[in-house]
Amino acid sequence: MKKVLLLAVALMLIFSVATLLWARESGQPGIAGTPHDVGVMTGDDTLEPCAMCHSPHSGTGDYPIWNRDQAAQTYTLYDSPSYDMNENKQPQAPSSLCLVCHNGVFSSLVNYPGPGSHTNENYDYEMNPTFWAMLGTDLTNDHPISFTYDPTKDNNQDNNGFPPPQPCPTAPWRLWIPGDQGLLTYPLYGTGATADQFECATCHSVHDTIAYIGKQMTGGKSVGTQVFFLRSSNAGSDMCNDCHVNRW
Ligand code: HEC
Ligand code: HEC
Ligand code: HEC
Ligand code: HEC
Repeated sequence: MKKVLLLAVALMLIFSVATLLWARESGQPGIAGTPHDVGVMTGDDTLEPCAMCHSPHSGTGDYPIWNRDQAAQTYTLYDSPSYDMNENKQPQAPSSLCLVCHNGVFSSLVNYPGPGSHTNENYDYEMNPTFWAMLGTDLTNDHPISFTYDPTKDNNQDNNGFPPPQPCPTAPWRLWIPGDQGLLTYPLYGTGATADQFECATCHSVHDTIAYIGKQMTGGKSVGTQVFFLRSSNAGSDMCNDCHVNRW
């Protein structure tokens, strides 16, 4: 009887470890093992991945309980004669939060894990300029962000065919842009019922919640045909086409 029980326990253990390994290696949703996992950034698995960006207490006060700090930066934003929704705004949260790392300027935590005013340089961060993920503070060569998504402003001359935003049924205070088959894929940001701001996180899911064909990781980097953290597959430019409907 004892032997059978031991065998069962051993089998259960092997099964759960195998499931865990499989989940991580096959790129299941979650931050673990992605370029946003501080363990991947530093090679130290004992650090706290969520603390890199969020703090349960004493953060900066920005949504969502943000934990990274940096001196204010001035960005040069995208403009063009046909960019109808341009409001000449500086990047706002959550785009400004991405940029705290992706602008390549040094940033540190407000509240480090551990007791009191303890600091830990493993959480301090400055993107290596040789990394292709460094966008810098000149955003003129990047897709526009931090503007009010208002398809009615897209004039007849461009006529991209942008879909009208829809309220999310489970969170009616948030507007989303429908993607393929009418699914609500791209969230808009801001507060209250008028959460209509187009941000980095409209296209990117920072916690890598979507798995799709071509999404693979090796040594903490994306390989294959797809870049991580997209809200949906951009194979065949499908993602661009979800919004720029008339451009395909
Ligand atoms: C690299 C930075 C980063 C890391 C690491 C990170 N987050 Fe986030 N998180 C963000 C940003 C930016 C947003 C806001 C954008 C959004 O909602 O997608 C966010 C939003 C959230 C939200 C609110 C919206 C939602 O998706 O539900 C929760 C909850 C959250 N994070 C939890 C976590 C937890 C738990 C961890 C650790 C397992 C974690 N995050 C790690 C950057 C990060
Ligand atoms: C704590 C710092 C930090 C924050 C905050 C952060 N990132 Fe990153 N991100 C990184 C690092 C480090 C990498 C890996 C850089 C490399 O290897 O080139 C990365 C990589 C990426 C990549 C490329 C992933 C790949 O390899 O395919 C994307 C896309 C990305 N981040 C988007 C975002 C977005 C969008 C936000 C905000 C919603 C954000 N990041 C917030 C640190 C951060
Ligand atoms: C309109 C959708 C969209 C928006 C908005 C957007 N991205 Fe991206 N991003 C993409 C796509 C698509 C890719 C993959 C590009 C490729 O394959 O080269 C990408 C790639 C990246 C990468 C990988 C490096 C690279 O250049 O390929 C990083 C880092 C990144 N985005 C960060 C950001 C940050 C930070 C913001 C906000 C300032 C942002 N993105 C806004 C669609 C977007
Ligand atoms: C979630 C919706 C969405 C996605 C996905 C998206 N875009 Fe956009 N894009 C917009 C909006 C909205 C604008 C602002 C248009 C305006 O005001 O004229 C814009 C602006 C642009 C512009 C500048 C237009 C101008 O008049 O200067 C280009 C070019 C562009 N997008 C290309 C792309 C490409 C390429 C992709 C795929 C990698 C992509 N977009 C993905 C919504 C999106």
